[in-house]
Amino acid sequence: MRVSVIGCGYLGAVHAACMAKLGHDVVGIDLDERKVAALSSAKAPFYEPGLEELLQDLQETGRLSFTTDMSEASGQDVHFICVGTPQKKGENAADLSYVNSAVTALLPFIEPGNLIVGKSTVPVGTAFHLSKLVSEREPSAHTVWNPEFLREGHAVSDTLNPDRLVYGVADGSEDHPAVTILDEVYSTPLAAGTPRLVTDLPTAELVKTAANSFLATKISFINAMAELCEAAGADVTRLADAIGLDDRIGRKFLNAGIGFGGGCLPKDIRAFMARAGELGADQALTFLREVDAINMRRRSRVVELTRQLCDDTLLGKRITVLGAAFKPESDDVRDSPALSIAAQLQLQGAVVTVTDPKALANAAMRFPELQYEPDLEAAVTKADALLLLTEWNSYRDLDPHEIRTLVTSPRILDGRNVLDSEKWRAAGWTFRGIGRA
Ligand code: UDX
Repeated sequence: MRVSVIGCGYLGAVHAACMAKLGHDVVGIDLDERKVAALSSAKAPFYEPGLEELLQDLQETGRLSFTTDMSEASGQDVHFICVGTPQKKGENAADLSYVNSAVTALLPFIEPGNLIVGKSTVPVGTAFHLSKLVSEREPSAHTVWNPEFLREGHAVSDTLNPDRLVYGVADGSEDHPAVTILDEVYSTPLAAGTPRLVTDLPTAELVKTAANSFLATKISFINAMAELCEAAGADVTRLADAIGLDDRIGRKFLNAGIGFGGGCLPKDIRAFMARAGELGADQALTFLREVDAINMRRRSRVVELTRQLCDDTLLGKRITVLGAAFKPESDDVRDSPALSIAAQLQLQGAVVTVTDPKALANAAMRFPELQYEPDLEAAVTKADALLLLTEWNSYRDLDPHEIRTLVTSPRILDGRNVLDSEKWRAAGWTFRGIGRA
């Protein structure tokens, strides 16, 4: 099929490449000239495992191009809307200006029978509003919502082999003409057995925010248990192992630590609360306020634990933060708990050096006042304390004996509960975890 993908960020660039991989002719459209230039020469404008290799493989096929010119959407059958919906400044609600301007810019190029497919995470009701704009311009075009569930760091495989496909169509019916077109778009994952659900527009929009709210709740639940474990002298990792063996609960997303961050979970739960308020259903989501509060409390708790680890004062202490990205295998630092903790420590008088395998350039743009050191050995040398805040494999695999020879004081706080505390203690380290005795 002929496909356009509007917005080439973490979602759209991967989606465009994966659509081409599935055999479609794809044009990716973005206003950012640098991003388009990079993608056009098969360079990933951000770090996402497998993306650059995929772009390079596709170069020879001629099926994938990128442009800043929206008129190149004309002649395509399916238009995916993949632009960002960040949190509004000073408010909980989502900023829909990118979605609205993408669709408005696309309108002149929509042709009879075209499909406009929303993938961005939007407040419920947005798809209906956009569908009116689209049908005023071209009555035979269809607006559908097809939420994206990809995880950064696994975006390529999540897009090519999704857990499920959700099609939100105007009447919620299997017989809607858009269903056949989307089935053709996704014929490869469907043939591989990917479950596919057809819903109405508001249900499809809500599926995404409900899924992210559930994940955020699961993480905050275990972090609340970590608070209790700390108070009671228990171990939250063993607790998670034990409750996770119950099939109904499951062990995934029960890792206590410094909490969730990134460009999705934090802003999505806030936008969900804001939208519930507009709909007069705010009571239904007041628990998400607590989920958010537990999550943010983790950050101040880590600052406190670091102070304790440093003999009750942060003043002048050289602290090395291992990890800046909001999660491993990503260079994304949006709402990264690691960076937020690093900045708070610095504000409280510590001398903070941050290292990360991929995210330092993005981190330096957000927090230019912190010191950054790409070389791990140089970063830890003469440190008074180490903080593991993003669980990259290179930090999980650190040898406590080797690294001890570099630091001034062998003290470490494992903010992700991924290190073997016995091993580190046996090597002479003062070791702190989260929610562990
Ligand atoms: C999330 C959803 O998982 C994805 O389905 C959706 O499409 C977009 O939002 P992502 O933001 O890429 O994806 O990251 P995710 O893997 O969900 O992690 C989010 C945050 O939670 C990270 O900061 C991670 O470190 C943290 N986390 C995750 C925990 O603190 N504990 C866990 O057990 C799991």
